[in-house]
Amino acid sequence: MPPGDLFASHFLDHKAPGARDQIAERLRENGLVTLDGIATRDAALAFASRIMTISPHRDSDPDGLTTIRDTQRHAGRPGFAGLGNGQLAPHTERSGLPRPPRLMLLVCSQPADRGGECLLTDGRRVHADLLNHRGGEAADVLSRPQTAYFGAGDGHASQVLSSHPDGRVSIRLRFDALARWSPIVQPHLPGLQAAALGHQQSLRLNPGQGYLLDNERWLHARTAFVGDRVHWRVLGDPHFELGRGFAPALAAPQPAARVEALS
Ligand SMILES: [Fe+2]
Repeated sequence: MPPGDLFASHFLDHKAPGARDQIAERLRENGLVTLDGIATRDAALAFASRIMTISPHRDSDPDGLTTIRDTQRHAGRPGFAGLGNGQLAPHTERSGLPRPPRLMLLVCSQPADRGGECLLTDGRRVHADLLNHRGGEAADVLSRPQTAYFGAGDGHASQVLSSHPDGRVSIRLRFDALARWSPIVQPHLPGLQAAALGHQQSLRLNPGQGYLLDNERWLHARTAFVGDRVHWRVLGDPHFELGRGFAPALAAPQPAARVEALS
């Protein structure tokens, strides 16, 4: 396996015996599983149903599955960037809800002609970076209650880092026009953005391939694309026990093996 190959290092055969338990275990450990052999919309929905209680979304079909493609009707509308063909900054899915869905499944139906790679950031690395490399002040300020407001008028006041009573931490983030910040957080946003981008790892998904991530740990993004890129997305909460967020790393992280420059 080539170093830095995020797909290979997190791959799990979801058709193997005991796969559901292994997926639960991997999500507890790493917050991420990569998948293959999900060739149809029905297969994506069937897999998601094994793992999670599906939450409907504003843009989903009644069964909860959302087709992510460039609709050419949503350009420039805050909160609808996923349905265009532009680059997306690292974000938490549905960050404007009091309780965002814990899991996100994304499966490639049809890749773009050019671009459209998925970019994933392990929030555990971002947290460790902020804690270890910036005097810890950024992590402290970004943990203060209600220093961020995510969403439109019906959004949610929260903070980027939430500490839980058992010492685990969750991350919640967006950088688009639907993020508003307390003045005390503003000086730390460049460092936060640098960490979120610096730890991005790229996934080029072929048809039938996908990922399942813990939305309290991993941030997702994508590069701009050309062509009729079609992905299926399902959101929901796991059927199994999954402790809040992630256990903080003890040591400072190494930069991602393959850092994507987004400029
Ligand atoms: Fe998203």
